[in-house]
Amino acid sequence: MTPQPILRVEHLKAHFRSSYFGVYREVPAVDDISFDVAPNEIFGLAGESSSGKTTLMKTIAGLIAPPLELIGGKAQFSFMPPETNLFGADPAQLAKIRWSKLSYIMQGSMNVLNPLRQIRFIFRDFAAVHIGGSRSDFETKTVNHLSRLRLDPSVLDAYPHELSGGMRQRVTIALATICRPDFIIADEPTTALDVIVQKEVLGMIRSIQREIGSSVLFVTHDMGVHAALTDKLGIMYAGCLVEAGPTADIFNAPQHPYTRHLIHSLPRIGDTVQRTGLTGTPPNLANPPSGCRFHPRCPLASDICRTERPKMRQIATEHRVACHAVAGDQA
Ligand SMILES: Nc1ncnc2c1ncn2[C@@H]1O[C@H](COP(=O)(O)OP(=O)(O)OP(=O)(O)O)[C@@H](O)[C@H]1O
Ligand code: SF4
Ligand SMILES: [Mg+2]
Repeated sequence: MTPQPILRVEHLKAHFRSSYFGVYREVPAVDDISFDVAPNEIFGLAGESSSGKTTLMKTIAGLIAPPLELIGGKAQFSFMPPETNLFGADPAQLAKIRWSKLSYIMQGSMNVLNPLRQIRFIFRDFAAVHIGGSRSDFETKTVNHLSRLRLDPSVLDAYPHELSGGMRQRVTIALATICRPDFIIADEPTTALDVIVQKEVLGMIRSIQREIGSSVLFVTHDMGVHAALTDKLGIMYAGCLVEAGPTADIFNAPQHPYTRHLIHSLPRIGDTVQRTGLTGTPPNLANPPSGCRFHPRCPLASDICRTERPKMRQIATEHRVACHAVAGDQA
């Protein structure tokens, strides 16, 4: 039996709405997205730049501020009272669950550790209130947790700029996990790191996730990282989720033409054939294409694709695709 999801996202819509000098602009960055994340699962989210990944994360975490507006739908965590989203939750309730139930490693967060505070005080600011106990107990817990991420206790005395990029990112991950949250949102946490450090940090994320048994929503445009780390995978294109399912199934049998492109363009050892790229550029989301948003770039596009947006359909256990050309969707 499928376990009760820890996060259920249903028909979520969030748009950027702005008006400058009388010109109204609406960007449907999150457009009718639905998916579940199960307990103990790493759910990956892929898609090229500006496809809406960060906006989706912020919306789920309830961080909706103008010009971003919630248009509709739900994002419910099982640790919240039934029928409540984080958007609209009162600040006291949000403060209670941040870090202890839900932590969010924001895109570029390793550069936003407060440069004027030593790491010791950054940990105290964020986590001491949730962990409780005496200051020396908290320090001992922090040192033990840092050692899991192979960080020496001396980092507590350092300022963020004194640490390398890899160490700063490990500190960020230590901060996000020290309270053993049920759910971690990690938006491009390893993108700025070189390949060797990235591999090490990914291994640490996996081992900490197993140890504390949390679920992770892991965002990166890097399909190689998804193949190595995630259990399930969702593919975003121009504000829409176009395919979702077990990562192995998506890599073995990608269905959506955009997913196929992402997977087939991954370099392989011993490759001698020049890979063909996708023609065209991602659409301007302020004026998205009609029907299927991928149709101007899709080699399989037909008339229906230009007029009708394809619905998400289940094609195998837990594997869903939004494409008119995939069997069953023409009906
Ligand atoms: N403050 C804003 N006002 C208006 N539009 C915005 C704003 N922030 C983002 N957008 C638009 O929303 C869309 C989605 O952006 P988002 O940052 O969520 O994409 P992303 O997939 O996270 O990209 P990246 O991989 O570069 O991080 C883009 O078209 C972007 O231009
Ligand atoms: S719906 Fe049509 S345009 Fe969109 S991906 Fe499928 S075949 Fe291509
Ligand atoms: Mg982003």
